[in-house]
Amino acid sequence: MNVTIRGRTSPFRTVTFDTQNNSVRLIEQRLLPHEFKIVDTKNFRATARAITDMVVRGAGAIGATAAYGLAQGALAFRGHDLKKFSAHVATVYQTLAGARPTAVDPVNAMNDVRLEMALGDTVAEQQSLALAAAEEFANEDVRHCQAIGRHGARLIRNGLNVLTHCNAGWLAFVDIGTATAPLYAAQEQGKRFHVYCDETRPRSQGATLTAWELAQQKISHQIIADNAAGHLMQRGEIDLVIVGADRVLGRTGEVANKIGTYTKAVLAARHKIPFYVAIPLSTIDWKLNRGFDIPIEDRHESEVLGAWGIISTPHSAFRYPHSPRRAYVRVANPTSGARNPGFDVTPADLITGIITPAGIFKPRELWSNRQKLGYS
Ligand code: MRU
Repeated sequence: MNVTIRGRTSPFRTVTFDTQNNSVRLIEQRLLPHEFKIVDTKNFRATARAITDMVVRGAGAIGATAAYGLAQGALAFRGHDLKKFSAHVATVYQTLAGARPTAVDPVNAMNDVRLEMALGDTVAEQQSLALAAAEEFANEDVRHCQAIGRHGARLIRNGLNVLTHCNAGWLAFVDIGTATAPLYAAQEQGKRFHVYCDETRPRSQGATLTAWELAQQKISHQIIADNAAGHLMQRGEIDLVIVGADRVLGRTGEVANKIGTYTKAVLAARHKIPFYVAIPLSTIDWKLNRGFDIPIEDRHESEVLGAWGIISTPHSAFRYPHSPRRAYVRVANPTSGARNPGFDVTPADLITGIITPAGIFKPRELWSNRQKLGYS
């Protein structure tokens, strides 16, 4: 997407690969919206750390990062011994797969890369196949988001108020995003609508990342506190909900997404508001039988007990200050601890439809359409 900073506009992808330096290039998402910075991870362990520490986050973006990280690890191997090479690649795979547990995209992405690598007969062949496959995963992620936009745009009518949760925008993918793809496509078609971004505590991806993206795209939007959605729904001020997902079970249609998604789905059902989930094919888990078995990441309590931001007064207009002072502010009672599950699981019956690159499906129809949806 295009990013405009201090009047200069340039296109960016969230994740790219620098072949000359064998490094993965990432937008440092923890600094947004106050600072726009690209960082390089120099080896696969640093790449895994960037995923764990959320330098890069969002299902598709960490999928592409893991794919590039696997290629990066493979390319760093010196020698011709295929057995030693395979053992090394297995270590790289395990390290990256363990970086964040809930999203299935990193594992699906790395499985794609490994399948391609298996076609090579030598270490050198497998190394170059790994990089080509990682590039293909990233490009496919972009194509999938474009297709989601084409299918989803018809849900957006003039004058609609749309609610979204967390960030399933281009920062959560290689480009364009999933929940935002229908919005961007509808904007191109000249439709006018308004978006409410759930703040999405504890890390506030809605208030920081989604709001920044929509502002960059000049889409009308407002941030709301996580607790405000029910009130707005009750007053008829939300017409449609679109969110992303970190894992969708192909067998049951259950959806794991950022904590608070389930609450919004219950509220939407209560108020008969359509609730859609937008995903690329890499977010589908065809193996698991029940949502209860999805590993839910428990994150550090400090995220709940306080917040990161830049030093400012509540009403001062900060616009990309040259040296923003980032700081953590303790908000909670100093002697209290916190519990911090990162994701929840929404049952299929609360979801109106899943917007995929192959069309919009009822959640329970994923399995019967598995061929169309890339199951093999
Ligand atoms: O913890 P995050 O920021 O990596 O969580 C992922 C998300 O942003 C959301 O759950 C999103 O809605 C799905 S990822 C496209």
